[in-house]
Formats: sequence, structure tokens, C-alpha cells
Amino acid sequence: MKFNFTIIISIFIAVSLVVLGFALVQVHQERQRLNIELEQRANLLGEALHESISGQLAQENYQKISQLVAKFNQKQRILGLAVYNVKDSLVGISPGLEIYMPFAQIPLKQAMGVDSCFGQQLKAGTKNFYLHIRPIHEEGPLVGAAVLFQDTDYIQKRLGDIWRANFIRLLVLALAVALVTTLVIQWSIFIPMNRMVEWMKNLREQKPSTEAVMPPQDFFSPLSREVSHMAESILEAREAAEQEARLRAMGESVWTPERLKEEMRTLLDDKQLVVVSNREPYMHNRKGKSIEWIMPASGMVTAIEPILKACGGTWIASGTGDADRDVVDEDDKVRVPPDDPRYNLKRLWLSKEEEEGFYYGFSNEGLWPLCHIAHTRPIFRKEDWQYYQQVNQKFADAVLDEIEGLEEPLILIQDYHFALLPQMLKSKRPDARVAIFWHIPWPNSESFGICPWQRELLYGMQGADLIGFHTQFHCNNFLDTMARAVESQINWDNFTVRVGGHTTLVKPFPISIAFTLLDMERVPEHQASKEDLFKEHGIKAEFMGVGVDRLDYTKGLIERFLAVENFLERNPEYQGKFTFVELGAPSRTHIKRYSDLVAEVEKEVERINWRFKGKDWKPILFLKKHHSHQEIAPYYQAADLCMVTSLHDGMNLVAKEFIASRSNGDGVLILSRFTGAVREMRDALLINPYDIERTAGAIRYALEMPADERKQRMGNMRQHLLKNNIFLWAARLIRELSAVRV
Ligand code: F6P
Repeated sequence: MKFNFTIIISIFIAVSLVVLGFALVQVHQERQRLNIELEQRANLLGEALHESISGQLAQENYQKISQLVAKFNQKQRILGLAVYNVKDSLVGISPGLEIYMPFAQIPLKQAMGVDSCFGQQLKAGTKNFYLHIRPIHEEGPLVGAAVLFQDTDYIQKRLGDIWRANFIRLLVLALAVALVTTLVIQWSIFIPMNRMVEWMKNLREQKPSTEAVMPPQDFFSPLSREVSHMAESILEAREAAEQEARLRAMGESVWTPERLKEEMRTLLDDKQLVVVSNREPYMHNRKGKSIEWIMPASGMVTAIEPILKACGGTWIASGTGDADRDVVDEDDKVRVPPDDPRYNLKRLWLSKEEEEGFYYGFSNEGLWPLCHIAHTRPIFRKEDWQYYQQVNQKFADAVLDEIEGLEEPLILIQDYHFALLPQMLKSKRPDARVAIFWHIPWPNSESFGICPWQRELLYGMQGADLIGFHTQFHCNNFLDTMARAVESQINWDNFTVRVGGHTTLVKPFPISIAFTLLDMERVPEHQASKEDLFKEHGIKAEFMGVGVDRLDYTKGLIERFLAVENFLERNPEYQGKFTFVELGAPSRTHIKRYSDLVAEVEKEVERINWRFKGKDWKPILFLKKHHSHQEIAPYYQAADLCMVTSLHDGMNLVAKEFIASRSNGDGVLILSRFTGAVREMRDALLINPYDIERTAGAIRYALEMPADERKQRMGNMRQHLLKNNIFLWAARLIRELSAVRV
């Protein structure tokens, strides 16, 4: 109330000063205008008088003058007229002028003395008047003077009116301002403030219905956003503490971000963590006049990002968003996640030629098909190889810059884009602990041997202290390739390879996702239904299958759709009832094989849909665009089954994300035997994606599986995921790396 009163009084004083200022100016201007008007009128009258009395005065015809003067009585703001002859004798006077005459004596003498007009505003008691004296001539000589008295009370009255009007205006304005201010303060400050206070109180008292995000408060939006972030952090910390307590009680060894952070502190004594990858975790893109950010569709990003969020550090990657340069500082760094900054993202800029040769060429037309046995022939071009070396060196320079002055930094290199980087770094900084994790499969030595630069790649990788793959099988393939291609000592007992005095440990680390006890226990507040999701696309169906992929030829998309077709063909009772939703993110479309694939997939979807579709139903809903995690989640949660049909895949985190999303403990995963995930997700329905009939059979089996079995299988997989999450992955990898002697 006091606050309200202070604001109103302050506004009132400010308004008064403004109104007073305007009133003063208005009064001043009006006074000037009226005075000028008065003088002009007096002059005009004087001139008219001069005409009519000059002759009479010259002839001393005073009677005529008396008659004329008598007519000037109290008319048109004129109090009267007095006429003097040249000898200063009064020869005519209007009635009632006597009280004013003393004021005229001296000025009259002066005016006649100097023979010029005189005018002045005067006051007789309470009466205001204007005295105008005009010497009268008749053909030259002075014959007398006319003294005119004008009433000027109207000027005071007019000025008084202006003051009064302004005073009333001030009152009305002050009242209106006070009223509006009170309402605005009430609506935009007190009511939202009370809501905020209430929300904070509920949060503090842990009232169950309170959401972590403060309801939007128009005027206080920036504040409420910040408070929401703070509340989220507090809630997270509270939940984490509760979780730790539960974990201790359960005696389980489940990894959490906090536990990983603690482990890092103990193992590394707060040494810096630097992650290097080609794909960046956040891309900033322009949308109209604003800048938006997205997380690219990448299993590598899904896995590595939570580690940096938990432990901090620096992530070095190529900047590929069209607004990436607009948000970085002078070191090309930006704090991320953009909505809750925890670590640095340093962006490197590749030229068009480097992108073409390093990323599209050598990495994705050469190494990608080389490592995936998916029957797309690798292409190796000399120019691409040169760009691959050049960009690896560019990243090496950036990393060396970043770790300059840091003792024994920890460097985690991601993927096949950077096979040469370990050696480049170790040759300059032998004290750095360097690991490279290969996110894709490693083929057998014969297959790998077709790469013209296999030895250079192997030497480059072997510079690392630790090389990680998803599976022991890929480790074995790698060691075997080393043994055949390079002069090296392989120790099959402890899986190390020694080249030129440097030993590298080669171990499997099956990668995972951030899935903790909290996620396991979390019940989504609102879960979209199948019906709602289908409705958005004009479809009605009883059952939903889902697939989430980068549009890549390794994902077995055509095989998946053929299986859906085969299933509908063999089980016509599901026609009109089962729709498969494919959330496909276009990827590497600059490469012909990838743009051809998109066209092929679209054609196949079109063919199958045309074959079966009904009025408001179709077998395949192909949603071709980049989907955020938030957009994908409802489909994961609502679907009856998820299909992962990769022809070859290092791990495949979609399988794990689907399992993590199934908080109701229900749903079936159909999983390709050729993924790394298959080694862990033994309760999925395992398929060979090339075997269309059996995959179709798996769809039917998934849809008709008894609820108990579904829950049993899903429960097992969720338990496994909980105990083998990304925090365990990072802890194991970092433990191994920190144990290395450098
Ligand atoms: O997970 C394997 C991987 O190649 C990652 O390295 C990469 O980020 C992801 O797939 C997506 O591919 P890209 O970065 O070429 O879009």
C-alpha cells in the first residue's frame, strides 16, 4: 500500500509540475495577446477621436465636445473619455470618471510636454484600467489632448479563467493517473507478484501439484524465466539428493551425473576435459529475424552431451549453423546449452572445399560405407584424403591451443572423422591423455584393407592412449587389422597394441544415454494419445509403430517398409488399423547416394500407401524433417512398437531412447541383429532386416504379445538401461584413460 501511495504521490507531483509549467506559459502568452489587443484598440479609438474633435478644439467649441464625450460612457469596455484644451483645462468629461482623473494629471502634462501618445495599465482601488493619452493637433499646432480610460478587468478575469481551467485539468488528470496507476500496479505487479510468491511457497513446501516452471507472468517474464531456471536447478539438486539416498538404500550401483562429476574430480583432480567431434551439439540457425537453436540428429551428440553437462569442459566442433558465427565470442566460443549454460562450445570454421573433401568426401563417401557393411561402395579420392589430413591438422591446432598451459589434459575424440588426430596431438603433447571413440562399426581386416590410406589411418589412431568401440567384436576386428596392416605387437590377453614404443589399450565401451533413476520413476504429466497424434495428420488407426532415424542407407528403411507391406498383406485384418510413423531427419543430402535414398524411400512409401490406403488411413506416415527430442517423445510414448532395422549399426541409440521413454513399462522393441544394441537389449524382438517375412512376423507378434510378456521384457530392458547408462560409460572410459601412464 505504501509503495502504491509513493508512486501515486510522485506521479501527482510530476503531473502538477507539468500542468503548472503549461499554465504559466499559457497565461503569459494570453496576457501578451490581450495587452497588444488593448493597445491597438486604444490607438484606433484615439485616431478616431482625433478626427472628430480636433476641429472643435481648435474652434474652442467645447459644448460639442461635451456632448460627444458624454456618449463614451461605459460602452464596450470603455470607462470614459476626457478632453483637455491646449491650456490643460478640462473641456469635456464622461460621467463617473472622476475617481480616475488623478491618475491622468501627471502623464497628461508629460504627453503634452513631449507631444506624444502615452499608454499605461493602472489600478484604482480594485478597478483595473488602461489610460491612453493622445495629443490632438489641428493642421499642425497642438490644440489639446484626449484622455481615454478603458476597463481592463476582463484581462484579469480571462487570466483567472485560465488558471482555474488548468487547476481543474490537473485535478482530473491526477485522479485519472492515480486510478490507472493503481489498476496497472495491481494487475501487472501485485497480482503476478502474489502468484509468484504463492508458487515459490508451494515449491518450497513441495506441494505435489506445483510445476517446476513458473506460470508465465507477462510483465515479469524475464524474471519468471530466471526464477524457473533456478527452481529447476534446485528441484534437480533436491531430486538428485533424494535419488542418491534411495540408491544408497538400494545398495545399487547406478550412475548419476553427480556421481560422475565426483568421480571425475577424484580421478582427474579437476583436470580439463576437451571433447572433439565434427558434429556440434548445438546449431544456431536464423529464422526470420531471430536466431533459433537445435540439437542435430546424432547418436554421438545424444550420448556425449550429458557428460559435458555434468562435468563441464570444452567441446570443439565444426560450426555448421547459418547463425553460428553470430553468437560466438572473439575466441569463437559460446556457452551451451543455450538455455542453461554449463560448458563451452568452440566452433571451427571449415571452408566449402574442406567441408566437401573432409566431411562429405573422405568421411562419408569413404570411411562411412567402408565401416558399415551395407552394400554401398566406398569412394576414395586423393583430393578428399588431402582435405581429411588438412582438417585433422586444423582441429589438432585448435586442441593444442586450447590445452596450452594445462597439465595432463583429457581429450576425448569422437568418431571416424578424426582418425589422424590422436597421433597429431600426442606427438606435440605426450602428457595429454588421448582417447578416441569410434561410434560406428569396425569391419574385418579384409574389408578395411581396401582403403588406400589404411596404414596412415591406423598409425593416426594408434597415437591414442585408449581406443574405444561399442563391442568386443569391433575391438577384435581393429586389432586384427592392426596386426595385418602395420608392424605392431598385439597383446590379445589385455587387448593392447604396441607400435614404436607407444602402447594403446583397445576396449569395448557400449555407449548409452542419460537414463537415471529419476527418469525411470518419472511419470510424464501429459502423454499424447495415439489418436491425437494421428489426428494431426488426418489419420485414424488403432495401432502405431514408430521409427526414428537419420535418413541413411545403413538404417534399413526400405527393408522396414517392405516388412510393413508384407505384414499388412499377410494380415489383412490389420489394414485400416496399423500405421507406421517414420520420423526421418534428412542427412548428408549433398551426397548423391543420400539424395537418391530419400527419393527411393519416398517412392516406396508412396507405392505401399497407394496399394493399401483407405479414406482416413494409410499404412505409412513418413514425416521427413528434423525433429527435436521434444517432438519425438510423444511418438515414442504412444507407439505400440518401435522398429530399428539397421543393416549395420555401431550401437543405435534410438533403441535405447525408445526404452527410456516407456515410463508405463509397456511397448515392444523390434531390433536388428546387426546393431551394437542387440548385445544388451536381449528382450527386444530380434530380427534380420533382410528377412522381410520374419520381420513382418515380428510386427504381428509385437502387436499381439500378451501384456504380461510385454511388461516383463520392457521392464528388463529398462533395468539394464538404468544400470548401463551414459554416466557409467563415461566413468569407465575416464577411469581407463586416467589409469594410463603418460
Ligand atoms: O553416430 C555416428 C555419427 O556419424 C556421428 O558421428 C554423427 O554425428 C552422426 O552419426 C550424424 O551424422 P552427421 O554428423 O554426418 O550428420
